[in-house]
Amino acid sequence: MKKAFIFGLIGFAGCALLAFNASAAGGPKPEPPPKATTISELAERYDSSRCADCHEEIYDEWENSLHARSILGSPRTAPTIITAIEKGLKLFPYSGVKSDDDITVEHLAICTKCHLPQLDEATDDVAREIVATIRGWQQAYKDGDDDKADELEETIESLNIGCMVCHNKVALIHKWADGYAQPDTVYGAQEGEHEDEEFVNMAEAPALSESIFCGQCHGLGPNLELDHPSQCATLYGSYLFSYVAHGGSESCQECHMEKSELGHDMQSYKDEAMIDMALDVKVEGRSIFWRKNKAEGVVPIGIIDVSMYNKAGHVIPDG
Ligand code: HEC
Ligand code: HEC
Ligand code: HEC
Ligand code: HEC
Ligand code: HEC
Repeated sequence: MKKAFIFGLIGFAGCALLAFNASAAGGPKPEPPPKATTISELAERYDSSRCADCHEEIYDEWENSLHARSILGSPRTAPTIITAIEKGLKLFPYSGVKSDDDITVEHLAICTKCHLPQLDEATDDVAREIVATIRGWQQAYKDGDDDKADELEETIESLNIGCMVCHNKVALIHKWADGYAQPDTVYGAQEGEHEDEEFVNMAEAPALSESIFCGQCHGLGPNLELDHPSQCATLYGSYLFSYVAHGGSESCQECHMEKSELGHDMQSYKDEAMIDMALDVKVEGRSIFWRKNKAEGVVPIGIIDVSMYNKAGHVIPDG
C-alpha cells in the first residue's frame, strides 16, 4: 500500500506541469461561430488587413513570412496537399475518399490542423473549394493563363495564419485554467480596451511568449490524435528533447523574433540573420607529402578538418 502511494506521488510529480495562471485571461467556452460556407467568408473572418491600419510595421513583417501563405507555402505546400490526396486519401481503403467530392474538413485536417487551424470553422464545401482552387491554379499555370493563375493564387493566399489565428484562436493553450478565447478580444501582453472596432478588448495570453505556443503547430512527431496520423513538422519535439534536454534555455520567440530582429517576419535559412545564427563552422586544412607506395612514390595530399556546431534550438533542417 505504502509503496503504491509513494509511486503514485512520484508519478504525479513527473506529470506535465500544466500552467496555472490565476489571472484568467479568457472566459467561458463561447458558442462556436456559424460555419463559414465559402473560402471568402472564412478569409474575411480572419482577414488581417484592418490590423495594418494601426500595426503597420508588424503587418509588413508578417506579410513577408510563410505564415502569411500557409496553404500556398513557398509555393510547395498547395501542390503537396494535392499529392496527399492522390497518393494517400484516394488510395487508402477506409478513408472514404474516392473522388474530390468526398473530401471533408476532417480529411484535410491531416494538413490544416497546423497549416490552417481555422478550417474547423468551415463546412465541408469549403474543404472541397480549397482543393478545386488549388487544382484550378495548377491548371492555369499549365495552360499559360497567367492572369487566372495569379487570381487563384491570391485566393489561396487569402487563407493563412494571420493576426487573429495567433492572437485569438490559438492564443490560449491551458483553457481550463486560463479560459477560452473570447470573440471580441485580442490576446497579447496587455489588458484593457483595444481601439479596433470588432476586437474591442485586449487581454493577456500567458503562454504567447513561450515555446509551447509555437509548438502547437511546429510538431512533436506524428499527430497521433488523428484517425490517420500524419507527420510534417517535428521541430518542437527536437527543441524539447534535444535542445532543452541539453540545457538550452532560449525560447523560439527569443531567437526568431528578438535576436534576429525580424519580429513577426519569422524566418529560417532563407534569411541572412538566421544563417549567421545557425552554425559555427571551423575548417582547418594542411598539405603534406606522403609516401604512398613503391610505384607512385611520394605524393602531395591534403587533410581537411571540418567541424560544425549547430547553434539553432533544434535539428536543422526540419521535415
Ligand atoms: C485603430 C487602431 C487599431 C486597430 C485597427 C488594431 N489595433 Fe491592435 N492595438 C492598438 C493600440 C493603440 C494598442 C495598444 C498600444 C500598444 O501597441 O501597446 C493595440 C494593442 C494590440 C495588441 C496587444 C499588444 C501587447 O503588447 O500585448 C494586440 C495583440 C493587437 N493590438 C492586435 C491587433 C489585431 C490582431 C488587429 C486586427 C484585428 C488590431 N490589433 C487592430 C490599435 C489598433
Ligand atoms: C504538426 C503540424 C503540421 C501538419 C499536421 C502538417 N504540417 Fe506541413 N508544415 C508544418 C510547419 C510548422 C511547417 C514549416 C516549418 C518546418 O518546415 O519545420 C511545414 C512545412 C511544410 C512544407 C514545406 C513548406 C514550404 O513552403 O516549402 C510542405 C510542403 C508541407 N508542410 C505540406 C504539408 C502537407 C501536404 C500536410 C498534410 C499531409 C502537412 N504539411 C501537415 C506543420 C504541419
Ligand atoms: C505565428 C503567430 C503570430 C502571428 C501570425 C502574429 N503574431 Fe503578433 N505576436 C506573436 C507573438 C508570439 C508575440 C509575442 C512576442 C514575444 O513575447 O516575444 C506577438 C506580439 C505582438 C504584439 C505586441 C508587440 C510586439 O511587437 O511584440 C502586437 C501588437 C502584435 N503581435 C500584433 C500582431 C498583428 C497586427 C499581426 C498580424 C499582422 C500579428 N501580430 C500576427 C505571434 C503572432
Ligand atoms: C497556427 C500554427 C502555427 C503557429 C502557432 C506558428 N507557426 Fe510557424 N509555421 C506554421 C506553418 C504551417 C508554416 C509553414 C507554412 C508553409 O510554408 O507552408 C510555418 C512556418 C514557419 C517558419 C518558416 C519555416 C521555413 O521553412 O522557412 C518559421 C521560422 C516559423 N514558422 C516559426 C514560428 C515561431 C517562432 C512561432 C511561434 C512564435 C510559430 N512559427 C508559430 C504554423 C505555425
Ligand atoms: C537558439 C536559437 C533558436 C531557438 C531557441 C529556436 N530556433 Fe528555430 N532556428 C534557429 C536558427 C538559427 C535557424 C536557421 C537554421 C536553418 O533554417 O537551417 C532556425 C530555423 C528554424 C526553422 C526552419 C527549419 C528548417 O527546416 O531549416 C523553423 C521552422 C524554426 N526554426 C522554428 C522554431 C521553433 C518553432 C522554435 C521553438 C520550438 C525554434 N525555432 C527555436 C534558431 C533557433
